[in-house]
Amino acid sequence: MNELFAALRAVVGKDHVLTDPDMKSGYEIDWLRQYIDDTPCVVRPHTAEEVAGVLQACAAAGVAVVPQGGNTGLVGGSTPRDGAVVLSMQRFTELGEVDVRSMQVTAGAGVTIEQLQLHARAAGLDFAVDWGARATATVGGAVNTNAGGSRVVRFGTMRAQVMGVQAVLADGSIITQLGGLPKETAGPSLVQLLVGSEGTLAVVTAVRLRLVPWYQHTAAALVACDSLMHAVGLLPALRALPNLDAVEVLLPEALQIACKHLGVKPPLDPASAGAFVMVDCAAHRDPTDELAELLGSQIGVLAVGAQRDKLFAIRDHITIAIGALGKPLKLDVAVPVLHLDRLVRAVRTGLRELAPRAQLVVFGHLAEGNLHVNVLGAGDAEAALKELVLTTAIDLGGTISAEHGIGVSKAEWLERLKGPAHVAALRAIKGALDPAGLLNPGVLLPVE
Ligand code: LAC
Ligand code: ZN
Repeated sequence: MNELFAALRAVVGKDHVLTDPDMKSGYEIDWLRQYIDDTPCVVRPHTAEEVAGVLQACAAAGVAVVPQGGNTGLVGGSTPRDGAVVLSMQRFTELGEVDVRSMQVTAGAGVTIEQLQLHARAAGLDFAVDWGARATATVGGAVNTNAGGSRVVRFGTMRAQVMGVQAVLADGSIITQLGGLPKETAGPSLVQLLVGSEGTLAVVTAVRLRLVPWYQHTAAALVACDSLMHAVGLLPALRALPNLDAVEVLLPEALQIACKHLGVKPPLDPASAGAFVMVDCAAHRDPTDELAELLGSQIGVLAVGAQRDKLFAIRDHITIAIGALGKPLKLDVAVPVLHLDRLVRAVRTGLRELAPRAQLVVFGHLAEGNLHVNVLGAGDAEAALKELVLTTAIDLGGTISAEHGIGVSKAEWLERLKGPAHVAALRAIKGALDPAGLLNPGVLLPVE
């Protein structure tokens, strides 16, 4: 190890190879304290060339590397395991000038989503992908998980924003595709191959990103629905709103615990409905009227100005509120929207049998049929519940990960979702780009 430390110091300088336990500890655990393991060191390069040097030094020592961004992941994809070195991307904070003609910008992998949004807004534009962890989550992590969040209904996932990347391959070679051309037919896209690759194929150092208009006028609503079916039934009318920006769903427990955590009175009584839909509209002109019209036929509250921000603060704090109550089983699944109700009914039935005292907290992104299923206090039943939720999602034509990634949490499940031919093709790509298997082993594909 001392030889490796020396080699790494020669690449990034001694201040950026952390071996002191206190200095390392924050990198060895995820923010919800679900995944914890030791790393021999944390290395913090700040150029693509330094990343190349780090990968080469680690390869020479036969030590694996776990790339890490803001460490807000939920599936154990960015914390160390089996003695791997943590490659922190935090120093890649460079933000290029916003090009308002092409509506694009280049951001370093370590730029946070919030910094990117503020930077774009200073030029009158915005970055489309948004979720609660925006202040900490980074561009590189978002690319590697194909992050989604609440505005996918309008702008698509991270994949739709990525126009190019700079990335370092396992052998230290560097791919630079940051020109941002909207059209190109020059073979398959290596750039898009890296989206959702969870640090297993390359280390992304910079990203060319699409920007969107900055809609400064917003209006939101919380609608009480009898059931999840009722909520799904609202989708055609919601999608017809000209300025629809987000359609989130909260089952009563989620509304209740988030409000309690924040110490605010719930805008609607959580016990009064079977499901709540949180809608956001954003436009260059006040969209309140369009939302008010839709609300006319529903039970709900309209929230504009500061009230709108308070409403979405509730939404943004659900994950933190759950984390404050304990260590939950967390599953991020999606099914075709018409099967959402069946999914939740199957989960509730399973829970009654397997862990009747556990607390179920469900919320998510209604338009994409994407639910975050959280179970607190499942105890020994966790594995059986995971099996139940993931199997049900697959059986209903859905997926075991909609936006959080596969990580280590669901690596064993990938083949059940995708089938052997698909996984064999992925393994072939992995083997070609990272023959020694040093980039984030155990993530995405199980170690053979
Ligand atoms: C959210 C994260 C947990 O939707 O995906 O809040
Ligand atoms: Zn989410």
